[in-house]
Amino acid sequence: MSSTVPATSERGDSLGIGPLLGTVAQVAARLAAASHPEDAALDVLDLLCRGLGAEECGIWLNTPAGLIRNWGVGDLVVTVEEIEIVMDGSTPEPASLTAIERLVAAEQRIGALAIRLARPWTDDERAGVRAIANVLAPVLVHAQHSHQLEEEVALRTTQVSDERRFTEKIIDSLPVGLYVIDREFRIQAWNRKRETGMQGVSREEAIGRTIFEILHRQPAELLRREFEEVFRTGRIQQFQMESLATGDLRVYRITKIPMRLADGPVTHVITIGEDVTDWKEAEGRFSQAEKLAALGQLAAGVMHEINNPLATIAACAESLQLKLEDLEAQGITLRGDYKELLTIVDNEVHRCKRIVDGLLDFSRPKPVTKALVHINQVVEKTLFLLKHHVRFKKVHVHQHLDPELATLIYASEEQLVQTLMALLLNALDALGDTGTIIIRTRPGRTASEAVICEVIDDGQGIARGEQGKIFEPFYTTKPPGRGTGLGLSICYGIVSDHGGRIEVDSIPGKGSTFRVILPGSEGV
Ligand SMILES: Nc1ncnc2c1ncn2[C@@H]1O[C@H](COP(=O)(O)OP(=O)(O)OP(=O)(O)O)[C@@H](O)[C@H]1O
Ligand SMILES: [Mg+2]
Repeated sequence: MSSTVPATSERGDSLGIGPLLGTVAQVAARLAAASHPEDAALDVLDLLCRGLGAEECGIWLNTPAGLIRNWGVGDLVVTVEEIEIVMDGSTPEPASLTAIERLVAAEQRIGALAIRLARPWTDDERAGVRAIANVLAPVLVHAQHSHQLEEEVALRTTQVSDERRFTEKIIDSLPVGLYVIDREFRIQAWNRKRETGMQGVSREEAIGRTIFEILHRQPAELLRREFEEVFRTGRIQQFQMESLATGDLRVYRITKIPMRLADGPVTHVITIGEDVTDWKEAEGRFSQAEKLAALGQLAAGVMHEINNPLATIAACAESLQLKLEDLEAQGITLRGDYKELLTIVDNEVHRCKRIVDGLLDFSRPKPVTKALVHINQVVEKTLFLLKHHVRFKKVHVHQHLDPELATLIYASEEQLVQTLMALLLNALDALGDTGTIIIRTRPGRTASEAVICEVIDDGQGIARGEQGKIFEPFYTTKPPGRGTGLGLSICYGIVSDHGGRIEVDSIPGKGSTFRVILPGSEGV
């Protein structure tokens, strides 16, 4: 292998080795103090070449990594073998036009200096070059060290900024809002999620400011107390917070985590805000479904037990009625209003039976014939049946039926009509005398939620605390005689039996939306 070095300097006439030695000694002294001795070493080479009238010279250095670095003036070609011979301690051929000198510093052979003349060397010149090599070697070692140091610093700097970028990427990829404050409440980290959304604040704007300036909508005192608690106790704090900042009500789980830069007191607090609205809703639906299922089982058991005695009472009342009629036929009239009493018993027994049947519909909807139906037809049929209802004449009923909705549902039309009728009658009750009811159909997003039908009213609404109870059997706010509290529980039973679900959104004083979500016929 051979190495070549490019010409990097212009040269003038030869200076002679005597003055050169003095100049090189001076330069070397400066080199030792220079911050980039390696660059300056090139100047030494240049001087050397000029002093000797050489066209080519170069330095070969062993690097700690085991490589040979070289640089110099002109196109000097020196083989690695030649250098290795010198490094091993042999003296090169005195007659050779190329003089190769070992560079030795602190008893270490660190490389070689080579100069090629166009003429034979004199002994003085060889001695001069050897002296220069001795001066140059420690300078080059120093240069090598500082070069190494620079490389290490550069490497560490890149590593640190890579690590920093990596950590930033991690916190930016989290689907939660995250920020970190120090003991002065100044923001030290602010992730991407906190930059987005209606309340988003850019990282540049947030970093370095106090949390009270940035979250100015939140009461500063409360925020301060929450953070101080974590700084003081060193314990994780977790709570839920409702916010209307995005327009609709969202629930956030806030977690404040203590962080210590070293052993000792908490230096920072990490705050994570997670939107748990959907999760809470799903949890609510799940626990409601569980509760209603348990209620359904209980109701089914009780109803079964009640049905038999009811049948007996009905049969007894009927037989008494027949006996009365027999007596009447024989011309015997009993004193007292037995006949009327028996009619009351009969009516009440039938009322009980209707309630029992209703409850059974909720707990265990009876097997029905299902067929492919279109929700728009179900809505039209329901409205046709209610058209003549006196109270419906006073309110505005708007239909917004999506004509594009192609998905059919596999359902009992009769039961779906019963469901929509119950929802419309409830809406009517909620309106009082006047108001608007909208019945709307639209496609859902997935096969299991392919068809959505909403009954929307602008009536009195339902208090937030009551919304979880309305599907329970016998829950009613209507005066006795007006409502049994079974309507929605029956709807719930029917819709569940069709593989769907029923939801409610309601704002007290503004109105309610009941949403029936059903699977498409292919999703069943
Ligand atoms: N659209 C609505 N607006 C306001 N409140 C409603 C609405 N729908 C239902 N509710 C509330 O839910 C309760 C339960 O309704 P549900 O239909 O189960 O029973 P009900 O209407 O009281 O009686 P029933 O339907 O058995 O005659 C109602 O009493 C009412 O308080
Ligand atoms: Mg009702």
